[in-house]
Amino acid sequence: MHYRTLGRTGLNVSTIGMGTWKSFDVHGEREIDHVHALVTEALRRGVNLFDTAPMYGEAERVLGLALKGRRDGVLIATKVLMHDARSARGQIEESFRKLQVEVIDLMQIHNMAGWQTVAPVLEEYKAKGRIRFLGITDYRTSMFPEMIKAMRTGVFDTIQVPYNVGDREATREILPVAQQLNLGVLVMTPICPIFDRNRLLRGLQRHDLSFLHPYGVTTPGQALLKYVLANTTVSAAIPATSRIERVQENTTIAEGLAFPHEVLRRLEGILP
Ligand SMILES: NC(=O)c1ccc[n+]([C@@H]2O[C@H](COP(=O)([O-])OP(=O)(O)OC[C@H]3O[C@@H](n4cnc5c(N)ncnc54)[C@H](OP(=O)(O)O)[C@@H]3O)[C@@H](O)[C@H]2O)c1
Repeated sequence: MHYRTLGRTGLNVSTIGMGTWKSFDVHGEREIDHVHALVTEALRRGVNLFDTAPMYGEAERVLGLALKGRRDGVLIATKVLMHDARSARGQIEESFRKLQVEVIDLMQIHNMAGWQTVAPVLEEYKAKGRIRFLGITDYRTSMFPEMIKAMRTGVFDTIQVPYNVGDREATREILPVAQQLNLGVLVMTPICPIFDRNRLLRGLQRHDLSFLHPYGVTTPGQALLKYVLANTTVSAAIPATSRIERVQENTTIAEGLAFPHEVLRRLEGILP
């Protein structure tokens, strides 16, 4: 596994983290045991960053259970999605309870919801030492101008945005601003973009990817992840999976050579 500094937080994060949307939203003993096994494999392979949210159903609770007794060196990022201060406090308190932690490493405002109202609440928790760092997320590239405004307030330590070989809008302004402000950058949906979940995988499946073998990449999912990490402003990509073999597949790309310029252009040609 390779690690990068999460911007001004100074935290060292695995370049492949783990998302929990859908994959951790499970009920029942067997399903929860399966998530435990996914987390075991992720930890074994050096993953130290897990991203979750109250909006992901059971995910926070199931992540809390899966990490019980093995939280050392693990970073938990969760979110708050509330439009007023009182509800935000209530949701944050629930997150502590579900995750079974006293301190949350990274609290992100989910999809910029009420960010001007909620940010002071997060700053209160940070001042008390209950939250270590603050972030902001949005899946809509149309919200990037507003996100840049939030980034420039100096309140936030990280951003979480979509960025992939088929959608490079982030490289135009928001990633350079993040770099300039030394903010950590998490990349959501690195494999299945929200508006057309299978577009990238379908696009790559039709092509001979043997030109990627010298870089340790043998599958479309690996190609997508390695493309994202070629941008050094990105701190980590946070793919989600419900399959153990894909934890292995996705974490393997952190080893091996980085894609050089000509390989990046060739991939962009496949998925313009
Ligand atoms: N607004 C926000 O803040 C926001 C929005 C979206 C996402 N997020 C965060 O970002 C994380 C990742 O986004 P996401 O879960 O939507 O999308 P993703 O990680 O890009 O894609 C997940 C899907 O890709 C499949 N997959 C994983 N590895 C694969 C591989 N190597 N080859 C082929 N398919 C693969 C998984 O299926 P299997 O389970 O079958 O492997 C799953 O259906 C989320 O879990 C969440 O933590 C945040």
